[in-house]
Amino acid sequence: MATVITVAQQKGGAGKTTLTAQLAVTFARNFGKVALIDIDPQGSLGAWFKIRQDALGEAAGGMHLSGIPGWRLGTELDRLHRKFDYIVIDSPPHAETDSRAAIRSGDLVVVPVQPSPLDLWATAPTLALAQKEKRPLLLVINRMPPRGNLPEAVLAKLAVEPTPMAATRLGNRMAYAASMMEGKGVIEIDPSSTAAKEITALAHEIATCLGKKA
Ligand SMILES: Nc1ncnc2c1ncn2[C@@H]1O[C@H](COP(=O)(O)OP(=O)(O)O)[C@@H](O)[C@H]1O
Ligand SMILES: [Mg+2]
Repeated sequence: MATVITVAQQKGGAGKTTLTAQLAVTFARNFGKVALIDIDPQGSLGAWFKIRQDALGEAAGGMHLSGIPGWRLGTELDRLHRKFDYIVIDSPPHAETDSRAAIRSGDLVVVPVQPSPLDLWATAPTLALAQKEKRPLLLVINRMPPRGNLPEAVLAKLAVEPTPMAATRLGNRMAYAASMMEGKGVIEIDPSSTAAKEITALAHEIATCLGKKA
């Protein structure tokens, strides 16, 4: 049976799709066969995957993507469970029912949060939903600026939350968006870049949370 990682956050623009794609590429490289499920009707992950297939051929690094409406999630998971080691779900913002289904399906719910007050407050409903569904959670700080008192103040507020927070934070880096424009992940563009090191460290942290080894 595949291990399911759900990337969720009610706030749009938090980095769900970025994190899903970057983690998927990194997991596929280090941990096993990866399928992606995009239940966001915006279909941004699907657009990235299409470019990926055109650039890398059918195999696209052994990855698969299903772009489906949320109500089909259960059936699709059943179909993919035996064929893949990991399934990463990218979920939509503001869609209670669909997000709930995605969160319920996750062996781990990864929640990207940008270090600003608005993003911090907008995270509460996602955390509440995951807690209600009794799913393990991991907060991931995304777009961390290199310096500043405000981000640190937001992090201090998050630190008192009972929710575990990844030690690895993703910086605010052009490399994430630039790699996606080519249908790739940062580790495929320059494995020695800071972004590649960050996402690799995060993938290992997530694997550890899930009790997996590379
Ligand atoms: N770590 C990062 N560094 C720089 N830009 C980022 C980072 N994470 C996300 N972005 C950018 O932020 C925007 C929103 O990200 P996206 O992944 O689409 O969020 P969501 O799926 O939560 O709506 C995109 O333009 C994306 O390129
Ligand atoms: Mg998105």
